[in-house]
Amino acid sequence: MNKLKKIAASALALALLAGCGSSSTSAATSAAASEGSESVAEETTTEETSAEAKTYNVGVAIYQFNDNFMTLYRNEIEAYFKTLETDTVKYNVQIVDGANDMAKQSEQVDAFITQGMDVIILNLVQTSSADAIIDKVVSAGIPLVLINREPLGDNGDESYAGILDNPTVCYVGADARQSGTYQGEIVAELPDHGDINGDGKVSYIMIEGDPENPDAQYRTQFSVKALEDAGITVECLSDQVGNWDQVKGQEICANALTQYGDAIEVVFCNNDAMALGAAAAISAAGRTVGEDIYLLGVDALDECVEMVNNGEMTGTVLNDANGQSHTAVDVAVKLLNGEAIENYYWVDYVKVTKQ
Ligand code: GAL
Repeated sequence: MNKLKKIAASALALALLAGCGSSSTSAATSAAASEGSESVAEETTTEETSAEAKTYNVGVAIYQFNDNFMTLYRNEIEAYFKTLETDTVKYNVQIVDGANDMAKQSEQVDAFITQGMDVIILNLVQTSSADAIIDKVVSAGIPLVLINREPLGDNGDESYAGILDNPTVCYVGADARQSGTYQGEIVAELPDHGDINGDGKVSYIMIEGDPENPDAQYRTQFSVKALEDAGITVECLSDQVGNWDQVKGQEICANALTQYGDAIEVVFCNNDAMALGAAAAISAAGRTVGEDIYLLGVDALDECVEMVNNGEMTGTVLNDANGQSHTAVDVAVKLLNGEAIENYYWVDYVKVTKQ
């Protein structure tokens, strides 16, 4: 976007922000007030109070409903908005499923714009489409909270121009480097440091999420880096894309176990859904987590935390769906109130090992 256009868009955004809540639910009948009797005056007071009630329209576009972690996340967005409602402020939250299809999601955003949403919360299908989407939402004067899939700047870091340059656009997420580092550290901190067969190196397979997603890239890179930083020699036997999906995680792990057998010491999964699949493949292959193989995930889904405590998984990393969804909603509310916001909001990951 050129500078002039950007300034105009920002001005428009601020103007519209000031007017947020134009979708007020009730209108006081001023005609009644002019009649002047006591009972009418009383009624008017009540109606004037309710005239201040506002319903904000919130559009939430999720990259795909069929995703364990994003299901927790979106349910919590809805639940948390409910807790913030008062007699005078309501949130009409509409959540749509992008079905992992960027063209479809782009149309959903167009529909949000046409419907005049007061704010949009967006979990992009493809971060490569961030600019196009940001431009149209900003041009429509609607504030935008990006979540979960971080568009990276040219240097591969969090200095994305579309976010930095627009006062009504921000990103809420977790630094995926931290989650990868925690996975690697969990292995490095094991008594045998992941080297089950004692051959002086940790032989692993990596099951990756969607490769366009920085969460997948960083978790892959930083889990291994943490081992290397701890002075451990590593050997990658296989690195394949499971797209965050449990069934794919199971297939990839089963095939790798057939191909590499006992040589596999560590199975790194970029998320817990794929680790659940890998766990099934591991037990079907007659291997035992904690004895002859280690298994790591990210997200800390309830069933995985239980598996960590039972020893069926070596560890996972809490991807804080509550913290992130609450932050995203709090920022959306600030935007609705016309308050200034930061460009980026970060929520920490937490290491999860057997308690
Ligand atoms: C990650 C999460 C994955 C998946 C992905 C979707 O943060 O760990 O399980 O939900 O987001 O973008």
